[in-house]
Amino acid sequence: MNPVDKALDFFKDHQSKMTEDYLDILRIPSISTSSEHKADVLRTAEFLSDYLQSIGCERTEIFATPLHPIVYAEKKASVPNAKTLLVYGHYDVQPVDPLEEWKSDPFQPEFRGDHLYARGASDMKGQVMATIFALESVIKTSQLPINVKFILEGEEEIGSPSLESFIQEHKDLLACDIILNPDAGMVGKEQPTLVYGLRGLSYFEVRIDGPKADLHSGLWGGNVANPANVLAQIISKLHNEDGSVAIPGFYDRIPELTQEERARIASNPTSDEEILEITGSPLLYGEKGFSPLERQGARPTLDVNGIYSGFIGEGAKTIIPAYAKAKISCRLVPNQDAMEIYELAKEYILSIAPPTVKTEVFLHSAGTAYLADDAPGVQNLVDALTAVWNKPVVYKREGGSIPVATVMQRELGVKSLLTGFGLPDDAIHSPNEHLNFPILVKGIQALIHFYLSFGEN
Ligand code: BES
Ligand code: MN
Repeated sequence: MNPVDKALDFFKDHQSKMTEDYLDILRIPSISTSSEHKADVLRTAEFLSDYLQSIGCERTEIFATPLHPIVYAEKKASVPNAKTLLVYGHYDVQPVDPLEEWKSDPFQPEFRGDHLYARGASDMKGQVMATIFALESVIKTSQLPINVKFILEGEEEIGSPSLESFIQEHKDLLACDIILNPDAGMVGKEQPTLVYGLRGLSYFEVRIDGPKADLHSGLWGGNVANPANVLAQIISKLHNEDGSVAIPGFYDRIPELTQEERARIASNPTSDEEILEITGSPLLYGEKGFSPLERQGARPTLDVNGIYSGFIGEGAKTIIPAYAKAKISCRLVPNQDAMEIYELAKEYILSIAPPTVKTEVFLHSAGTAYLADDAPGVQNLVDALTAVWNKPVVYKREGGSIPVATVMQRELGVKSLLTGFGLPDDAIHSPNEHLNFPILVKGIQALIHFYLSFGEN
């Protein structure tokens, strides 16, 4: 039997045990943004490190950072002069609110048909475990033709504050020839995907303070500015009528999309109808002059992620709120500088804020966009995906952000293979996140092909 079949058989024989292990990691609420879950994040790191050790990694280590730990592991090839693959993943997850929208407990994974419901099932504990189960299946059945290193972080969903300096300080440890980053998802069930672009992110918060406390709106309304009203006015000035962003200088550094690039983006078969269906919006909306897929992957945006002010309880209460806050993010494209965009946004917001309130703008996180034609190992990955799906690979310029790809390119000199087995309708970051289980199984099979492909000649 050839090595691929042996490993695939091993996986089939151990699939139910592996599924149990996957459910176990989903039960740990590793929400990186909330301090009350710090111990859970650590527990998840320990789970991974223990698992990687149990499958035969010669070295596993949990590196402490100022916030959440980074798990490192390595498994040496069983042949000399092998190349080195670095697998990136994150084991933290997004918060679960609004909890009342979930049909099952986000941390009690539940199968409903082919779908497994749990926070992190798709983004991205499923893919992290997929890379590990595939490696386990190869190690247990044949010679491993490539050195495999893992770097698994617990801060991705909050903008990876500790990762960049960790990479800078551990270049030798992380030295590699190929990087696999399966955090980028796929376009559709029958469309294995290679992502060649990601957007950057500049995430900041606006805080407007007015009166020293919530005031009776009858007694004082008409005497002082209302921070909620002011915030709404400011937000309304962040976009132009045509859907473009109104911050001066926002578009200055962006090169025009070439015809080739527009054609490449258009080769992604996702239709407007599918976008309507997945989002549930009544109508598509975005910057004039660009297709939805261009607006998703190749044009920058500005979005309010949350607004908080005043009374939001049941019924009515007559007050002028003391303050109003908005969390705002800009998705960025290559050549835009995330810090510069933040400075431009801050300057503009402060310039339109009236003197009747006190306005502050502060940064949450900044990450650079990514665009790469190819990456080392791309043919191995394309062949592996094609072997399992029997479908051509779709090339996508993705709208989400994975800032580590750019950091690794700069610090380690290696571009990333961006792929994944999550689907656009998995509801990642939303209530009822789920994963299509048969697709994850295919993903594991593809990764078995991928690891073993490095031994073929
Ligand atoms: N896995 C996502 C990003 C993603 C999803 C890329 C689907 C491609 C397809 C990742 O975990 C994520 O959500 N990242 C954050 C990054 C941010 C906090 C810096 C994002 O994009 O909001
Ligand atoms: Mn993710």
